Amino acid sequence: MDKNTAEKLIKAASEARSRAYAPYSGYRVGAAVLAGGKIYTGCNVESASYPCGVCAERTAAAKAVSDGARSIESAAVIGSSAEICTPCGMCRQFLYEFGEDMTVLCCDKDGGYEAHTMKELLPFGFGSSSMK
Ligand code: THU
Repeated sequence: MDKNTAEKLIKAASEARSRAYAPYSGYRVGAAVLAGGKIYTGCNVESASYPCGVCAERTAAAKAVSDGARSIESAAVIGSSAEICTPCGMCRQFLYEFGEDMTVLCCDKDGGYEAHTMKELLPFGFGSSSMK
């Protein structure tokens, strides 16, 4: 991924983080995905019934897919601590569906990041081709 795209994704994810609804954990997350040349964003949305909450990555990916996208090229996720934020297991599987070759920028609260490929994040992932 080029530097300009990385910067745009991180900025979009950071803006989305400002809209996080995280009254229970207090851990605010923003995500951005690039699909078909467009950036879609999402934040974590928690619920008083804790398991109903959704992560920022799935919010962003669902927005892209519901807009017609079927392939996500790259993504950024930004948390709110000094540690980089990496997608949870459920989000890894969800993102894998739409981009086995995706690059994910895993950011700390200030935008410092590590780039990881989906194959690193979810080795031996299960996808539609696994059933052929
Ligand atoms: N969370 C995300 O939105 N994305 C991640 O990659 C890690 C965790 C959310 C879920 C929950 O709202 C809060 O962060 C604490 O786990």
